[in-house]
Amino acid sequence: MDVEAQKRAAAARALDFVRPGMRLGLGTGSTAKHFVELLAERVRMGFDIVAVPTSEATRALAEKLGIGLTTLDETPTLDLTVDGADEIGPDLTLIKGGGGALLREKIVAAASAQMVVIADRSKLVEGIGRFPLPIEITPFGAAATRRAVEAVTAGVGCPGPAVLRKAANGHAFVTDGGHWVLDAKLQHIADPPTLAARLAAIPGVMEHGLFIGLTRVAIVGGPHGVQLIERT
Ligand code: A5P
Repeated sequence: MDVEAQKRAAAARALDFVRPGMRLGLGTGSTAKHFVELLAERVRMGFDIVAVPTSEATRALAEKLGIGLTTLDETPTLDLTVDGADEIGPDLTLIKGGGGALLREKIVAAASAQMVVIADRSKLVEGIGRFPLPIEITPFGAAATRRAVEAVTAGVGCPGPAVLRKAANGHAFVTDGGHWVLDAKLQHIADPPTLAARLAAIPGVMEHGLFIGLTRVAIVGGPHGVQLIERT
């Protein structure tokens, strides 16, 4: 199986967690896109669900495919969110936000009774941090916020530059919420909970891409099939 087939196989397995009548969170990214497409096939067969997208891209795709959508204002609690990840650590601590949707992804995941992560095998890591950690910030005072982020990461033993993400046009990448993203190149995050708490305390940081304790199940597609990893 090539990587796209691995992602699709993981997405297909996640459908087993979906029951009629569920309120779902729909993730963002190439793996989540497979899930949305497969879910839409079920919906066309009469499967009754309603969903909250975690990005405008996912909203557009779900709408196009005929999936009934709602908002967290109308439906503040969800049964299940299915989303991708950039890194999956052994305890199912995740790095997310490579697609820039981390704030909405975390709000939706936190509103869900369960979060299932779907990925190809390349996302499984022994320790997280090689993937640059996305940190969503307000444009106001961005340089000061960046300095504060770098001081925090150095203070918890993972120093590295926090680089402003650029869009294809060379300007700052802007999230669906109108914010910017710093990508912190840390290499290895030894203490994710401490880093998460200290980043969250910085004024100007809207959210960071560390997802800790939010998921109990990861579905990982590999060359020879799908593996289910559960956090006990
Ligand atoms: C979006 O902001 C991210 O959190 C994605 O879920 C993550 O980047 C995984 O994306 P892929 O499935 O495209 O690798």
